Amino acid sequence: MSKTPSRYTLTAALPYANGPVHIGHLAGVYVPADIYARFLRSNDKDVLFVCGSDEHGVPITIRAKKEGVTPQQIVDKYHGIIKKSFADFGISFDIYSRTSSQTHAETASEFFTDLHNKGEFVEKVAEQYYDPKAEQFLADRYIVGTCPSCGKDGAYGDQCESCGSTLNATELINPTSALSGETPIFKETKHWYLPLDKYEPWLKEWIVEGHKKDWKSNVYGQCKSWIDQGLQPRAVTRDLDWGVPVPLKEAAGKVLYVWFDAPIGYISASKDWSTATGKDWEPYWKSDDTKLLHFIGKDNIVFHCIIFPSMLKQHGEYILPDNVPANEFLNLEGNKISTSKNWAVWLHEYLEEFPDQQDVLRYVLTANAPETKDNDFTWKDFQARNNNELVAILGNFVNRALVLTHKYYEGVVPELGELTAQDKDVLKQLSELPSKISNSIEKYRFREALGIYMDVARLGNKYLADTEPWKLIKEEPKRVETIMHIALQIAANLAVLGEPFLPHTAKKLFNLLSLEPQTWDRGGSDQLLAAGLKLNKAELLFVKIEDKQVEEQVNKLEATKLANTEAEPQKDEIAFDDFVKMDIRVGTVISAEKMKKSKKLLKIQVDTGVDTRTILSGIAQYFEPEDIIGKQVSVLINLAPRKMMGEVSEGMILMAEDADGTLQMISPSENVKSGSLIN
Ligand code: MF3
Ligand code: ZN
Repeated sequence: MSKTPSRYTLTAALPYANGPVHIGHLAGVYVPADIYARFLRSNDKDVLFVCGSDEHGVPITIRAKKEGVTPQQIVDKYHGIIKKSFADFGISFDIYSRTSSQTHAETASEFFTDLHNKGEFVEKVAEQYYDPKAEQFLADRYIVGTCPSCGKDGAYGDQCESCGSTLNATELINPTSALSGETPIFKETKHWYLPLDKYEPWLKEWIVEGHKKDWKSNVYGQCKSWIDQGLQPRAVTRDLDWGVPVPLKEAAGKVLYVWFDAPIGYISASKDWSTATGKDWEPYWKSDDTKLLHFIGKDNIVFHCIIFPSMLKQHGEYILPDNVPANEFLNLEGNKISTSKNWAVWLHEYLEEFPDQQDVLRYVLTANAPETKDNDFTWKDFQARNNNELVAILGNFVNRALVLTHKYYEGVVPELGELTAQDKDVLKQLSELPSKISNSIEKYRFREALGIYMDVARLGNKYLADTEPWKLIKEEPKRVETIMHIALQIAANLAVLGEPFLPHTAKKLFNLLSLEPQTWDRGGSDQLLAAGLKLNKAELLFVKIEDKQVEEQVNKLEATKLANTEAEPQKDEIAFDDFVKMDIRVGTVISAEKMKKSKKLLKIQVDTGVDTRTILSGIAQYFEPEDIIGKQVSVLINLAPRKMMGEVSEGMILMAEDADGTLQMISPSENVKSGSLIN
């Protein structure tokens, strides 16, 4: 699109309603999309920003099975939770819809029928994996195996989450059924395929030639490698009982592939918006002067850059995306975020622990956004960015400006007097920052944009530190009026320019400054606040986050890690006789000392009831000698003596070993006589 668009359609990937949303969702898709939407609206652009829950597909039915409820119950539950989280975090969708709606079923069926009538689909009877035990075809996530691209285990029938490749189930190495764990058999079934191979020349022209320059390199690169590998026809129907029924008589019992129906959900959502507002949805999807943008995560790239555009193109009535600003992934404390492993910071739980601190999370996730590579969220960084940036830079500046205005002028904006060279320089810098922020936002470089926004606050802090109004107030009251007037204009700019990034904070700040929300073009102005305007009492915008608060979060994750580690598999069966051969007793530790030259071993004297003997035990990293004296322990006393580091050990103290390797003694719950048998 070369000319200025008349309107914008922004879509944010429809999250699967198979769990709540977490920080990875926000960082990768929804916060950047929201910043962009708010930025456009602030520039008086006509914007339709749509999203909704993705309620079909195997992720939903698997979750339902796990929770022992129906798929409909699953999507009802999570749709509500997700919708609320987005609203709480200020994600300003014009509509948040869902793909189990009637509108969507109709829109998706019509879309399929349209392509079918045009003869676009290739119909093929082919062998597909089938689980005879579960009596079910194994589509998508119902089948797991080794990825043919990267060789990692755990790849799904349609996608490998390790390397991001999109797969066909038959390409998996060592496939097994996720339902029964059995090796599947082949069974014939008919499906409808979208002939991506046929669209290859067009896709090459459109993407490789058309979007090499304006698409992000991670997005372009993935598309290019897909096209270079040669595109294959892709089945858009499935043998499943959850989804939009294929609108053909001969396809009874089959549903549309979730990746066929879900992106059409953007259109259905727009129709729902139209119904709710009375506005026409069609120009947002069918007018050439509309700019369509898909905000997604990197695992969605091929669907939004290759498959969905091919569908739109063949349908013929729709516009194509102008850009697909996909982000990489956000990890959490060094590990991949995972809904099924509960390795996540869930948005609804975050708000319970950090109430009213939505903008802190928005800030941290933007400042550390995975725009060009995967990034890591750590609670330490969260705390540091809040305390050192939001509190110390932004909050501190605004607070000083307001507190001083109340102290000197009872909260009334003072007059602007004569300007010094320094004042002029500061105002010039201020006037230049908004266009720099705009430039970065327009290039989808949100972290850069946020950094420049913070420069506005830095400018304010530096101005106050350099001019030191508190030292001049007695001698040069006129000069201080000018300084404070300028400082307050900078604070007002923080509200105007902060709205896309930190909407809750901007709202508070507008209120503190008795100012109505302003459009973006007012940013950079030194006339946002009129002299004589009465401001509200200062209030802190941000509060310090204490060590204790982040420690609690880290502990919570540690507990998840423990819960996730699988127990060792059972050892080979033994006979009762094998067991009774072991003589295990309760012993009492008489003395203990560190072994010379050994980091691991303690030399322990144990009263076994039978005798007092020396046992060497590899527990020095976990126990101080003085702490175990007098403790009762379990001892295997008939283990053949072993020599270690020149000493003989006559037995073994039994320990429980945690997943992370920590050791605990196994002691009777109350003291018993040394030598008591354990059996
Ligand atoms: N539910 C998908 C996911 O979470 C995204 C679907 S995006 C849509 O990865 F375009 F299909 F809607
Ligand atoms: Zn892979």
